[in-house]
Amino acid sequence: MGVILRFEIKATGRAVPQRRVSNEELAQRMDTSGEWIWSHTGIRARRIASVDTASSDLGFEAAWNALRMAVEQGVCVERTPEELASTLDMIIVATTTPDFYGCPSTACLIQNRLRAKNAGAMDISAACSGFIYGLETAAGILSVGKERKRCLVIGCEILSRFVDWNDRSTCVLFGDGAGAVLLEKTDTKDTEVRGLLRTILRADGAGSENLVIKKGGSRNAYHAGDIFEFAPFIEMNGHAVYNFAVSAVTEIIRDLLQVERLSVDDLRWIVPHQANARIVHAAAKRLGFPPEKFFLNIDEYANTSAASIPIALDELNRERRLKKGDLILCVGFGAGLTYGGNLIVW
Ligand code: ACO
Repeated sequence: MGVILRFEIKATGRAVPQRRVSNEELAQRMDTSGEWIWSHTGIRARRIASVDTASSDLGFEAAWNALRMAVEQGVCVERTPEELASTLDMIIVATTTPDFYGCPSTACLIQNRLRAKNAGAMDISAACSGFIYGLETAAGILSVGKERKRCLVIGCEILSRFVDWNDRSTCVLFGDGAGAVLLEKTDTKDTEVRGLLRTILRADGAGSENLVIKKGGSRNAYHAGDIFEFAPFIEMNGHAVYNFAVSAVTEIIRDLLQVERLSVDDLRWIVPHQANARIVHAAAKRLGFPPEKFFLNIDEYANTSAASIPIALDELNRERRLKKGDLILCVGFGAGLTYGGNLIVW
């Protein structure tokens, strides 16, 4: 019998800013109401980072918490997070709001702070699907090269700095935060199925205009002498994104279950990207699935883009709502447009 490669999530971590901004607080500053935001999105609050915090700061903290969990739970032989960090082969960061435009990558900044001296590091640009893409990329990298064993996959975002605070239809939706997982390759002859089981990655670039940060890239660069009226911000066609998201979530869940010949009853949790609770409820209705299968924490954190799924995984994990052997389906969608999902045996 051949050797089987497995890619298992060994530990999780998250980091969110302390500052909690409720809908009611926003309603004091703009023409909205707590009730409108809650009834249209399922959001009650979001975390907003202090001015001196960047994405890599939250990403580093989430990564550190994941390494600390691995050490404390004894899932590795290393005795300190520092020691474990030095064994990492790769650090992948999914972010739409990197510390710097273009370069250096946020992953390199986190690699330096972790003193992960043996790790490669790179960012992934797939917006809110970034963690889904990142997990599959990490498994691909670990599968090539016998000596590679461990990878951190991090989603970290400071979206509060890339929204137009004068546009009530977008600014109320987003929040700041980071989540991280430690992915480890094991090669074994035992045939028990564990870890990353299957991934689907898809894109529809024809919808790129529906969710875009227009200013600042090579298409629409800043020039010397420009007067900056606004910082670059997210522009969104809310209705188009909503319709795309409901279809994307439905399609990915259906296809992942079908290809693995599974049913909804086999799943412990569906962990969707947390963009709008109504998107999740509409997809659940289309699929005929009970809404309780879907884990939602959007009420407290709002949409944290690439961070939302790893934050949700960490919350489930730390609350001991995940057992070894549980089947989980993570599903993401976002700018690009991108979408995809991972089936994971915990
Ligand atoms: N407070 C009060 N009223 C508001 C607000 C607000 N914050 N925002 C919009 N409105 C008003 C509008 O002006 C409009 O008023 P009008 O009828 O007088 O013109 C009315 O509410 C209805 O607006 P709609 O846009 O029709 O509201 P809808 O129910 O469609 O909800 C929303 C808007 C929440 C943005 C929805 O379209 C949505 O969730 N879209 C998908 C968003 C998403 O998922 N984005 C991210 C995905 S990818 C990623 O994470 C980067």
